[in-house]
Amino acid sequence: MSLVAIEQLLKQTMGLDVHTIGESSILRAVQRRQEQLHLDSDLDAYYQLLRSTQTELETLIEEIVIPETWFFRDQRPFDAFKRLVQEEWLARCGGQILRILSIPCSTGEEPYSIAMALHDLGLPATRFHVDAVDISARNLVRAQHGRYRNNSFRVHDLSFRQRHFTLVDDEYQLEEHIRGLVHFRQGNLLDPAFLNGVAPYDVVFCRNLLIYFDRATQEQSLQVLRKLLKDSGVLFIGHAEAGLFLDSWQASSRYPSAFAFRKLRDERRARERPDPALPRPKKSKRPASRPSTAKPAAPDPAPRTRTATARVADNDLREALLLANQGHLAEAANLCEQHLQQQGPSAEAFHLLGLVREATGQSTEAEGFWRKALYLEPHHLESLTHLALLCERRGERREAQLLRQRTERVAALAGGDKA
Ligand SMILES: C[S@@+](CC[C@H](N)C(=O)[O-])C[C@H]1O[C@@H](n2cnc3c(N)ncnc32)[C@H](O)[C@@H]1O
Repeated sequence: MSLVAIEQLLKQTMGLDVHTIGESSILRAVQRRQEQLHLDSDLDAYYQLLRSTQTELETLIEEIVIPETWFFRDQRPFDAFKRLVQEEWLARCGGQILRILSIPCSTGEEPYSIAMALHDLGLPATRFHVDAVDISARNLVRAQHGRYRNNSFRVHDLSFRQRHFTLVDDEYQLEEHIRGLVHFRQGNLLDPAFLNGVAPYDVVFCRNLLIYFDRATQEQSLQVLRKLLKDSGVLFIGHAEAGLFLDSWQASSRYPSAFAFRKLRDERRARERPDPALPRPKKSKRPASRPSTAKPAAPDPAPRTRTATARVADNDLREALLLANQGHLAEAANLCEQHLQQQGPSAEAFHLLGLVREATGQSTEAEGFWRKALYLEPHHLESLTHLALLCERRGERREAQLLRQRTERVAALAGGDKA
């Protein structure tokens, strides 16, 4: 009973749905704290301690949070962000200051990537402001130190590391000219007073947090994010979260497969929200026309794009993705295999197996799975992207180029695809 009570307390406080990380992770964290405090294993007593001592609750949260992140994670959102700044914001917003929020920022890789991208675009520091927030004080201390190991550098193009880091012993120290561009602060997205009184943002990155929440908490968080964004603002979410946005947000067709969303205005939401009594129309299999060329401040032409990953609706595949993100690769692979046995061939399951194999250095097997995913679903964007990267790393330039071109075509078509 008390473990359930502890789980409920965590959900109320930080939004965590324990099913996303598993009850055993919570139990292990609680047991670690009991050992550190020389307590016996009485869960009731520990629950009472949590209720009465705010610092203990904060320490348990530190034990539970998953800080997994790296520089320029997923790459495409950052490419889209740079285009957004160059093609839209600079044209539209003249002398204003570009305001960006990274929540959750974990150990700093995401907001520093944003700052490096803006610096490398030549935007002076006086023209932008980056806020970075996380619930974990421990992560924020690491972020402010700005020292990183190889694990934070997982993308193919590492030229940014040469430009902005110095190797100190076996760690990379981020230089001050970038560190000084990010303003870190501790905060909880679910705190009713979260960022009260701050000016709204042009861009919010909220990636790989909503995936740990249940549907009601996701909705609550999206309301908070709506308030934090300007009407013309753009929200970037993680690719595993794209399936959440069905009613109140519009996928940006200008930045296909970057998981970028704009607010639907309230009156438009009311107009576009389907009558719940009616069955939902089926999505057309064939993507519609290409998106038109970007014009500053014009509304996006295509409402609510769903990507291949957004269609990972099955709970077991979602769980497999979470497990893989937490580094539980064998468990993630098992779930995918089970899914394939029970449900038959699925592009998403093959894609995930590809990711798991790649993470364990088995690139030939990874390639095999991504090709299977593409056989089933030739427009599977993530498999195309990963295959292209793999070929680039192997020096197979021609094949990589062909895959890139195919990826661009599919991404452009997906941008015009209507949900
Ligand atoms: C997986 S990291 C994501 C980091 C980064 N956005 C990315 O995508 O690489 C998740 C982070 O969410 C933070 N977190 C968890 N619950 C939170 C909450 N309620 N409010 C703010 N941050 C939270 C954790 O401390 C952790 O650093």
